[in-house]
Amino acid sequence: MSKLLRVATAGSVDDGKSTLIGRLLYDSKSIFEDQLEAVERSSRERGGETADLALLTDGLRAEREQGITIDVAYRYFSTPRRKFIIADTPGHEQYTRNMVTGASTAHVALILVDARTGVLEQTKRHAFLASLLGIPHLVLCVNKMDLVDWSQVRFEEIKEDFTSFAAKLDVHDLAFVPMSARDGDNVVHRSNRMPWYFGSSLLHVLEDVHVASDQNLIDARFPVQYVVRSTARDGDHTDFRGLAGTVASGVFAPGDEVVALPSGFLTRVAAVWGPGGAALTDGFAPSAVCIELADALDVGRGDMLCRPSNRPLVGSEIDAMVCWLTDADELREDGRYVLVHTTRSTPARVVRLDYRLDVETLHRDKNAKSLALNDIGRVQIRTHNPLYFDPYRRNRVTGSFLLVDETTGATAAAGMITGPTVAASNVVWHSARVDRAQRATRGATVWLTGLSASGKSTVAAELERLLVASGRPAYRLDGDNLRHGLNSDLGFAKADRTENVRRVGEVAELMSDAGLVAIACLISPYRTDRDEVRRVHERAGLPFFEVYVDTPVETCAERDPKGMYAKARAGEIAGFTGVDDPYEAPEHADLVLHPSDGDPAAQAARIVELLGT
Ligand code: ADX
Repeated sequence: MSKLLRVATAGSVDDGKSTLIGRLLYDSKSIFEDQLEAVERSSRERGGETADLALLTDGLRAEREQGITIDVAYRYFSTPRRKFIIADTPGHEQYTRNMVTGASTAHVALILVDARTGVLEQTKRHAFLASLLGIPHLVLCVNKMDLVDWSQVRFEEIKEDFTSFAAKLDVHDLAFVPMSARDGDNVVHRSNRMPWYFGSSLLHVLEDVHVASDQNLIDARFPVQYVVRSTARDGDHTDFRGLAGTVASGVFAPGDEVVALPSGFLTRVAAVWGPGGAALTDGFAPSAVCIELADALDVGRGDMLCRPSNRPLVGSEIDAMVCWLTDADELREDGRYVLVHTTRSTPARVVRLDYRLDVETLHRDKNAKSLALNDIGRVQIRTHNPLYFDPYRRNRVTGSFLLVDETTGATAAAGMITGPTVAASNVVWHSARVDRAQRATRGATVWLTGLSASGKSTVAAELERLLVASGRPAYRLDGDNLRHGLNSDLGFAKADRTENVRRVGEVAELMSDAGLVAIACLISPYRTDRDEVRRVHERAGLPFFEVYVDTPVETCAERDPKGMYAKARAGEIAGFTGVDDPYEAPEHADLVLHPSDGDPAAQAARIVELLGT
């Protein structure tokens, strides 16, 4: 696993962030010898016994800060297993700005807490920002364990406290490491002073973070940055015309059919050139490449290449979460800005401030009239020119934007698009003239989750048979089957699975609203995705039952009806759930089925019981 890992750090003042980063560099032997000596010398001068590692990063940061307005220092280091880039985002006043700029491309966020003070308001703010920015992995570093006598009880308290907050956020992967950055316990090396902790050191946690499935490899998006032209000197060749830019997501290869937006012209990729003019077999995110098209089309800066069958959304009315980054001004309804999105900008207006979020309680203040420095809120924006965008959850590049002050050119806000404006004037909700109670039957949704080959589909088929035989309308929504139609555009990257679950959840909700028992059987590996489906049902007042088909992975791999486990274990399929992709078991399932609970018919009968009448 040699993939580069981007790490963002966040902590309150004095949590020991600089010391932790210094310790990672120091113990992984990444510091140049001369720097190390200088640190040791100045620590001795300050009377310190061990090297004061904070000096190292603080010093470097001070250097880097000169001349840059954004206070983020990037540190690079590597181990035999992986390369790392750490963005050090200091925890002072402008932390929102720093996190948004330093962390928006991060794979992992390290959040530090002092074991003595535990989870603070700032900790929650940082965790919230990390989840808002879509950072897939979060590690809570419980630092200064030496100052609480290496207490397991204290560690567990903090863990519980943070877990209950994180449960309300969109966090997919959360780890906790008790440590003392000053002494190096559990940073690079496992400590023997906390024998009760069986987990890995922070460095090992970072080395093991799985990032492949975090990337959006499905949606090919290439925002054109500029046009490269060159004229052949000998006059024999036609002029070269290429489109330079950074692949935002997906892959572009010679021969691929592409469409240029906004013109809608279709053509093919003739060649992909890398830095230095090397011909590439493909260009994938986030590489900077030059794409040559088969036809001489009028395509320029701000245009976007994608696939004809997979296009971004187009529109000038969007809903977005914004982080307000300036104290020069406040966001207000009707405010006018320049919206910068990928390689284009357009005048834009904030049509509505839906709410301001209290990051600690997650309360939505719908009466808020403005957003000030560090505030986060949800807005509706109308742009002068249409945008070609994807929701941020699906694509961090084509889903994000900046709002820039028209006159000063200063960045006022960073935004994440949630989707097209739902309440846009041209989409209205039509009320029904039929009440749910007037329908012949009452609906519900049964959601079967579990590993591939756990038996979900078989139980679902039995359940459907039993219900229909008893005169109760039911319909099965099988993950595999739906991937042939409704979800045929989705793969198995995390964002795709999330969208897969969201769509099936919406369909199930419609079916149960219509009076059917919707029986969904999907791996649905992520807890937050399933919880969202539950929320959709709860909002609509419809019964929802999560059934966990808890078959151990070894049993599934033995059954292996489609030979998938064998392939995944042989490395022929990457990102296979249970092999090299995570499965998050439900914590509060309405029913758990084990292989020992009888045959599929018996298991289905238990679900019928759960459903009641
Ligand atoms: S989910 O993760 O998005 O909920 P879903 O239930 O729709 O998955 O589809 C899972 C089926 O796709 C599996 O039964 C298996 O046959 C197939 N499959 C192909 N690739 C993968 C993969 N990488 N991980 C899991 N299942 C896969």
